[in-house]
Order: sequence, then structure tokens, then C-alpha cells
Amino acid sequence: MSGKPALLGGKPLAADPVRLVRPVLPAFDSMRAEIAETLSSGMVTKGAQLVAFEQAVASHLGVDHAVAVSSCTTGLALTYRALELNGPVIVPSFTFMATVSALIWAGATPRFVDIDPATTNLDLAAVRAALSPEVVGIVAVHNFGNPAAAHELEAIAANAGVPLVFDAAHGFGARYERQPVGRFGRTECFSLSPTKLLIAGEGGIVATNDAELARRIRVGREYGNDGHYGTEFAGINARMAEYNAILGRHSLLQLETAAENRSRYAALYREQLGDLPGIGFQSVRPADRCSYKDFSITLEAAEFGLSRNRLAAALAAEGIDSRAYYDPPVHQHTAYARYAPPAASLPQTIWLAARCLSLPIHSQMEPATIDIVCQAIRQIHHHAPELRATQTA
Ligand SMILES: Cc1ncc(COP(=O)(O)O)c(C=O)c1O
Repeated sequence: MSGKPALLGGKPLAADPVRLVRPVLPAFDSMRAEIAETLSSGMVTKGAQLVAFEQAVASHLGVDHAVAVSSCTTGLALTYRALELNGPVIVPSFTFMATVSALIWAGATPRFVDIDPATTNLDLAAVRAALSPEVVGIVAVHNFGNPAAAHELEAIAANAGVPLVFDAAHGFGARYERQPVGRFGRTECFSLSPTKLLIAGEGGIVATNDAELARRIRVGREYGNDGHYGTEFAGINARMAEYNAILGRHSLLQLETAAENRSRYAALYREQLGDLPGIGFQSVRPADRCSYKDFSITLEAAEFGLSRNRLAAALAAEGIDSRAYYDPPVHQHTAYARYAPPAASLPQTIWLAARCLSLPIHSQMEPATIDIVCQAIRQIHHHAPELRATQTA
């Protein structure tokens, strides 16, 4: 504990690099027969595996329809398109860029709204204040896997007469009021990329109880083909291939363990970092379960002794990855700056983007790895004055 941080010439604490993300995948042997059968059948897309995966996901989530697509981004874009969201859509700026790029692809425009820095999700008062007769939809994110206030948002959307869509990219494994995330709003769109708890390689799921919407997503993922070589609306190829569906279905069998593990790891982080000055945690309501797709802290430089970026650099020197999600927030990205509201209207987004740091969390990891990350943060805090003194930039 009295050792020197690697940035000051000490020995790095992590003997092996601690990566931010390390996918946990099903064993090849468990999928061997299905992969072989798919190959020999020649049906490498649009086959039985896709149907089996969609059924397994719908039953897991308890929804009528789970439509598998090539990614969460295509699922979101098709959802926005199917719902004909052609005007301003309320959306957080404190999110991953794809929440917004999909809106633009579908012909909508983002109306950026502030978040609650405690939950990191949309601020309900700010959503109400941003509503106007032109608004055609609300998109909420379960950020880092922390369920957004689904019932309150549903009431706001119903009152305004606009659809509510959840970007549930981080949401597999999360529970809102003890029910799986996936059941709320008009639809919820999940990502199945390798940084998530449920992994299909690449892929997405659009979950909904709206049969007509599910039908339109199915048409949309197939170029918009109406089934008679005509076009119902301009779609894209957003199909999920059979191999991805096999991987996804086997990954689903590991989901509950992944979610339970991550909750345990998050508790360990909270326990070990809780007494350090200037460190804050995402607030999760007691009846909810965060998927902890990411485990993120906030850092108040004046109290901790170092800035968030300096902590990240010091961790990197120890061999520990971290990521400043989402800095810059989306409204400051070049492509979206023209939709940016006055900076004064997103104070919490700007506050959080400058302080948030995601630490390594995997669906399966040694608790000792968390000990190393926490020990490194403690040691870096302890040596903050020297680290500040040696800072060149
Ligand atoms: C909030 C959010 N939305 C959408 C996406 C896009 O997901 P995909 O990579 O499956 O397109 C991501 C990716 O991680 C995300 O974090």
C-alpha cells in the first residue's frame, strides 16, 4: 500500500493488463452440433436458429415479440423509422453516439435533454420541460444498465401522446421494479455486441408487445420488402445470421450468472472505494437491478486530489484500463453540434461528462482483480500531491 504509483516510477500493480471489458462466451463444444448442422444445411441466414433465438429471448423477457437484428443501432433506426418519427425527439446527450446517429438515419432530429447525475438517466423534470407540440417521441437510455424510470416516462409519453422508446443497449440482465428490462415503453432495443452481458458477436433485439411494430421491424430488416418484391418503406439489410443466433441463444443461458456476478463485483467496488474522498457512485433504486454493463464512478478533483483524466493516466500506467464515458457528450460531437441547445440547458450532462470514469468489470472476474484496481486508486489518491506536481499537461 505504501508503494509508489507506476507514474512516479513504481512497479505497475497489475502483472497482467486489466482490460475494461473481457467478453465471457459459451464454450465451443456446447455449440458444436448446431454450428455443424447449420453449415451442412446450407441455411446460414434466415433459418431455424434465428427463430429459436427470438423465441428464447421473448420468453426470457416476457414479451410478445423479440425481433433479432444486426445491431442495436439498426434496431433503433428501424424502430424510429417504423414509428415515423420525423420531427424532434427528446433524447439524452449523456449517451453513446449510436442512440443519436440512429435518429438521424431515420429522419428525426435530436432534442437533447439533461440527465440526473445520480442515476445518469434522463431527468424527468427536464423531459417535461422539453415537451412541445412538435415533439414526436421520447428516447430514454438505461445508462450503464441502470433502469430508467420506466413508469414515470410512460406516463409522460402517454400524456404527450408520443411513443416512448428505450435504448436498452446496456439493459440485458437489468430489472426494473423486479421485472426484466425489455417490457417497457413501445419498444426496447438491446445490443448484443461483445461488451454486453448477452453476446451474439454483433446483434440487437427489438422487444415489444406491439404486433404491428414487430411486423414493421421484420419488414424493415429485410430492405422494406413487403414479401412480394415490393417495398413497404425504405428498409435496410439488418438481418442476424444463424451463427450469431446460436451464440446469442447459448449466451442467454449464462445471462443470470453474468448479472449476479456483476452485481457482486459492483458491491465490492463500492465497499472498497466508498471511503475515498471525492468518489461517487451511480444510484440504483432498491427495487431495481443494474446490469452493470459498465461500473462507473464520478470523481471530484478538488476532494480526491487529482482530475479524472490524471487518475485514468495513472491507472493506465498500472496496467489498468478505464474509459471516460461519455466525454464529450453527444451534443458536442461535430456531427451533432448543430442540434446542441445552449450549454446552460445541459448543466448536469456537462458536469457528469467531465467527472465520470468507467472501471474494469467483466461478467466473470477474480475478486482479486477488483482488489488491484481499488488498491491502485487508493495508492494514486495517497500520492496525489506528487502526481499533481509531476503533471506536464
Ligand atoms: C447506449 C447505446 N446505444 C446503442 C449502442 C449501439 O449498439 P450496437 O453496437 O449493437 O449497434 C450502444 C453500443 O454499445 C450503446 O452503448
